[in-house]
Amino acid sequence: MAVQISPSILSADFARLADEVAAVPNADWLHVDVMDNHFVPNLTLGLPVVEALLKAATLPIDCHLMITDPDRWAPAYAEAGAGSVTIHAEASSAPVRTLREIRSLGSRAGLALNPATAVEPYDDLIGEIDMLLLMTVEPGFGGQKFLDMVLPKIRRARGLIERHGGEVWLQVDGGVSADTIERCAEAGADVFVAGSAVYGADDREAAVASLRSLAEGAV
Ligand code: DX5
Ligand code: ZN
Repeated sequence: MAVQISPSILSADFARLADEVAAVPNADWLHVDVMDNHFVPNLTLGLPVVEALLKAATLPIDCHLMITDPDRWAPAYAEAGAGSVTIHAEASSAPVRTLREIRSLGSRAGLALNPATAVEPYDDLIGEIDMLLLMTVEPGFGGQKFLDMVLPKIRRARGLIERHGGEVWLQVDGGVSADTIERCAEAGADVFVAGSAVYGADDREAAVASLRSLAEGAV
């Protein structure tokens, strides 16, 4: 299990996105939250901005689609060149088809679960995905308080992934900070999204480095 850090640009300065992306050269991914004001009560950005970020960024892009009907919209993000495309289980009516399509277009396929969604019903989908994303806040906004109640699910998800061979990455998203990242790593997460903990810091690069060392120290 290798620790990876994926700063979320949701907390970045949207008027200076290219600079904000360049401020985290030591990250592994750039987490881009696509929200449609329908699946979640917030609106962010869509495919044109992701296409612009793909041109501006040297890091691979980790697209987190918090949108209704991802079966219709997700493949375009893979086609555009996102390194990873994650859809929400709660929003997809044909996840097997969509996840296979994402993979066939050359991206890693991710499945996201909200805090109240149990992981066990998705056991049979583990073979269809490259990453499982467990939300540690209700999706929609940055800067929310980490939900400790998700920790037992992180442990159970790590168990399911190990039973399937251990290849699937386990991402946590929401309230991940210097105060909470060790608990997540210890429970079995290996990919850490951090919005305000990175873009709320004066030195973004130092924030990434310190989150990484805390997570590595916890496993
Ligand atoms: C929230 C988004 C997150 C958000 C996390 O719904 O999916 O990626 O940016 O922000 P922080 O790290 O501030 O909780
Ligand atoms: Zn996210």
